[in-house]
Amino acid sequence: MIISRSIKDLKMRLRKLELEGNKIGLVPTMGYLHEGHMSLIDYSKKENDITVLSIFVNPTQFGENEDLDNYPRDEERDLEQANSKGVDFVFIPNVEEMYKNKKTTVHVSDLTNVLCGKSRPTHFDGVTTIVLKLFNIVRPHKAYFGQKDAQQVIVIEKMVNDLDMDTKIIVCPIVREEDGLAMSSRNVYLSSLQRKDALSLNRALSLVKEKFKAGEKNSITLKSLVRKEIESIESATIDYISLVDFENLEEIKIIDKKAIVLLAVFVGKTRLIDNIILEENLC
Ligand code: PAJ
Repeated sequence: MIISRSIKDLKMRLRKLELEGNKIGLVPTMGYLHEGHMSLIDYSKKENDITVLSIFVNPTQFGENEDLDNYPRDEERDLEQANSKGVDFVFIPNVEEMYKNKKTTVHVSDLTNVLCGKSRPTHFDGVTTIVLKLFNIVRPHKAYFGQKDAQQVIVIEKMVNDLDMDTKIIVCPIVREEDGLAMSSRNVYLSSLQRKDALSLNRALSLVKEKFKAGEKNSITLKSLVRKEIESIESATIDYISLVDFENLEEIKIIDKKAIVLLAVFVGKTRLIDNIILEENLC
């Protein structure tokens, strides 16, 4: 496994491999790797000759009062895990390498001022800017993202389409702990009591799934199920519960096409997100 901290170095090595006909897969992360990240690596390994894992806690996607300084980091463990998975390259630049004297921001409009973008107004500009940079550095044939961050994937797909980029975006399913909590690097912030309270997110989404399968198509009814479940938890504060069109993130009243229920909830001070896709033939 090659560890590269320099854009120039990584570009040089990858261009050579690309010229030799290798297919390159990219898994962008902010590190503190868990099984969710690992699953993305597995998908990339299966579909490409070379897998590049990037680890970069991207400052521009954190708001002023967010957890940039406390964001969990463990480079040594991450590198061990990446190595054990057979990652070919780890790109692990520092902030100066990525942003020194930069004046350019990539902005996707409309899709970024709803849901998470409402409470985190600069977040998605940070995400699209860093992802575009990573794509230009790595030039991946395919890039792997988790359904866990559903809005992020939709915004990135829009950017890739709008800017005529060649990278194919592959969306991978949410990996959960045995008890249903969606894996996240931020779960380490939870106390053991909050960890139990956090299960309410998946519980609420499972209720929605059951009702939907039983024929309930009314968005207000489905969302109120979620609200009731979350509000029964003292440490939980709802940021948003939304039921939207899968394609354009617009709220829908009656589900007559592929839809997605998204929620963001503070458990104590930790902001957690989760979602479930609702479509015909849901099993
Ligand atoms: P990070 O939160 O580290 O997540 C990296 C990738 O792992 C994202 O595509 C995310 O959706 C995916 N992921 C996280 N938890 C998952 C889970 N439980 N199951 C499946 N996939 C999961 O998302 C980011 O970093 C950053 O915004 C990034 C795209 C790297 C840009 O800085």
